[in-house]
Amino acid sequence: MKVDGCRVVITGGASGIGLAIARQLADRGCQVVLADIDAAALTICADERDTFHTFACDVTQQDALEALADFSWATLGGVDLVFANAGVGLPLRPLLDHTEAHARWVMEVNYFGVWHTLQTFGPRLIEQGSQCHVVVTGSENSIAVPAPLLGAYNASKHAVLGLTETFDRETPDFLGVSLLCPALVATNIAASVARIPDEFGGPETFSGGGPALGFSPEQISEHAVAGVEAGDFYIFTHHCNRNMISERLSAQLDAIDRQTQPDDGSDVCNTRSLLGRLFDQIVA
Ligand SMILES: NC(=O)c1ccc[n+]([C@@H]2O[C@H](COP(=O)([O-])OP(=O)(O)OC[C@H]3O[C@@H](n4cnc5c(N)ncnc54)[C@H](O)[C@@H]3O)[C@@H](O)[C@H]2O)c1
Repeated sequence: MKVDGCRVVITGGASGIGLAIARQLADRGCQVVLADIDAAALTICADERDTFHTFACDVTQQDALEALADFSWATLGGVDLVFANAGVGLPLRPLLDHTEAHARWVMEVNYFGVWHTLQTFGPRLIEQGSQCHVVVTGSENSIAVPAPLLGAYNASKHAVLGLTETFDRETPDFLGVSLLCPALVATNIAASVARIPDEFGGPETFSGGGPALGFSPEQISEHAVAGVEAGDFYIFTHHCNRNMISERLSAQLDAIDRQTQPDDGSDVCNTRSLLGRLFDQIVA
């Protein structure tokens, strides 16, 4: 789908990857609704371009997404492109030293934030009936585990992979779906630990302050927009991820080839075809 002149909604749009995508799309003639929990950052964004429209919204709340969708349709007259991008990081810590509260918080934002976005925008885009696209920001941590110390975050991003793939299979062809899978990007994400709500353990000290490491948000935006225009489901941004993808896939194929036989009779209980037929009956 060509992005020129599209009507766009971006969650987590006031910083980092979301803001870079907003700027690139504005340069391509798009009207963009930037939604974010950070109202102060949104105010600064609103002054940046005439084509930026801002809406304060916490993606952990379904009602907030419904209000965002109402605002977007009213402001833009329709929506062609949605980025479910809002997300947070956790303090770097071994899995067994993390609290349940932190694990729940990262799921609330990174998983349920995407859940609410798809649940809200999905039906409206389908009803609208025109060519459209949804991009979910996953991570390299959606497709393998590159490193220790990010256990609960890894789980949230793997959950997003399953959700997004299912959404892609269950929605009509005119609704394109992508999973953006960046590795390290130089953004403000490390500072999100200073904004952990009290109900999830409260703010942690953010010891950063030096330059963030990684590709620039603009580099990620270039990949994201090119991926939408190519109709790619997976949008990768860092070549270094190739090895870990290959390692996991090789380990899985090696295990299944050693542990099972091609003629074991499992075709009759192939979930993919069984549930595929059931889905066709349900939506027929
Ligand atoms: N920075 C990286 O290295 C990296 C790598 C892979 C994936 N990602 C993912 O990219 C996405 C964007 O993150 P970023 O790196 O640009 O970080 P960022 O902190 O610069 O931007 C994230 C934005 O999301 C907003 N946000 C946080 N919680 C929210 C909520 N509950 N409701 C609405 N908005 C909320 C923040 O206020 C912020 O403006 C996230 O999903 C993140 O997991 C980041």
